Amino acid sequence: MNKKIAVLGSTGSIGKQTLEVARECGFGVSAVCANSNIQLLEQQIREFNPQYCAVGNEKCASDLKVRVADKDVKILSGFEGICEVAFESNADMLLNSLMGKCGIMPTLYAIDSGKNIAMANKEPIVCAGEIILSKAKEKGVEFLPVDSEHSAIFQCLSGTFNSYDKIKRLIITASGGPFFGKTRDELEKVTREQALKHPTWSMGAKITVDSATLMNKGLELIEAVRLFGVCQENIEITVHRQSIVHSMVEFCDGSVLAQMGNPNMKHCIQFALTYPTRTESLCTPLDFKSGLNLTFSPPDEDTFSLIKTARHAVSAGGTAPTVLNGANECAVGLFLEDKIRFVEIFDYVIKAYESIKPVMNPTVEEIEQADRQAREEVLSVSGQR
Ligand SMILES: NC(=O)c1ccc[n+]([C@@H]2O[C@H](COP(=O)([O-])OP(=O)(O)OC[C@H]3O[C@@H](n4cnc5c(N)ncnc54)[C@H](OP(=O)(O)O)[C@@H]3O)[C@@H](O)[C@H]2O)c1
Repeated sequence: MNKKIAVLGSTGSIGKQTLEVARECGFGVSAVCANSNIQLLEQQIREFNPQYCAVGNEKCASDLKVRVADKDVKILSGFEGICEVAFESNADMLLNSLMGKCGIMPTLYAIDSGKNIAMANKEPIVCAGEIILSKAKEKGVEFLPVDSEHSAIFQCLSGTFNSYDKIKRLIITASGGPFFGKTRDELEKVTREQALKHPTWSMGAKITVDSATLMNKGLELIEAVRLFGVCQENIEITVHRQSIVHSMVEFCDGSVLAQMGNPNMKHCIQFALTYPTRTESLCTPLDFKSGLNLTFSPPDEDTFSLIKTARHAVSAGGTAPTVLNGANECAVGLFLEDKIRFVEIFDYVIKAYESIKPVMNPTVEEIEQADRQAREEVLSVSGQR
């Protein structure tokens, strides 16, 4: 395949796996991008010879220019540089694996330039899903989910027979994270190191903490509402500790289709990059002979209360999901810097969420404003401002 891809967030967990898939499938890489990890960016430039590289941090961008002065690569810097790379690079597809809401504008620029999108970066869909998806439709570009649950649902829905209007329920699976079964009292003393130990997936720090609070499922629920047009009442979350069933769709006739595989994001990345064809797997296949034991149980939404808040936010609409996401990004950042405790993530996010009135039918500017307001509120209620 001589497809060319641009990878935003190429030094992160998903970004590195995307470049492994590119290497193994023989894709060209037109652009790489990160915030500050220039050591790895240099290696990626030397191996993949991209046309562009964007570096969020200006100083790191200057240092990288010196390190790769012998290479024919255009280095751009700052947020504008990332947007320019998203628009200008000659890729067929942009894989967005940036972390957080900052991926909204680069995604919109890539769609504007006619690139297909493979979207791992879930926060932009949560905050600006309606704007992003309607632009993708208007421009006629493919918009493919990379998040394993949404890739699973998308795969269950592929083909004309299982059409979207016959969906009865979406069932999103959750590993339950490292604190499955714990009470609020038991969560009082958990540490950053414990929160960063995910039982089945190896991921970046922010999403790993989101998996420990189960906010990740809240974000995925909103993402599923946006991507598949199913209302939140018809989306169930089930804890499935083995992470083998990546999600399921129940149709009006009661049939349930599941997509299964070992927990490995390379499957979802490869599916999105090679869509609409399927190519030989790069992952270890499931071994049914070893006696797969698949269990399902409801999550504890009283202790892991952000799932309820996510349901409320997507029903409230407008900037409500943005406020929830912004508050969460800020609180998780504070937790990762050891400034607040794990349980305070729930408290501060919910406090900030409840104190900000959503704006309906927001523009991108209003989404940015709501995000800022949510972060300021978390800083204020946590005494960190
Ligand atoms: N990891 C998974 O298995 C997984 C699964 C499903 C969905 N996702 C979603 O995919 C996204 C990425 O997750 P991840 O686990 O790969 O995160 P990660 O390991 O933290 O990687 C984030 C990447 O984004 C870059 N980045 C962060 N902020 C930036 C900024 N302001 N400007 C430019 N680059 C920036 C980082 O660069 P530096 O390295 O220089 O900091 C890094 O390359 C998230 O939205 C997550 O929810 C991840």
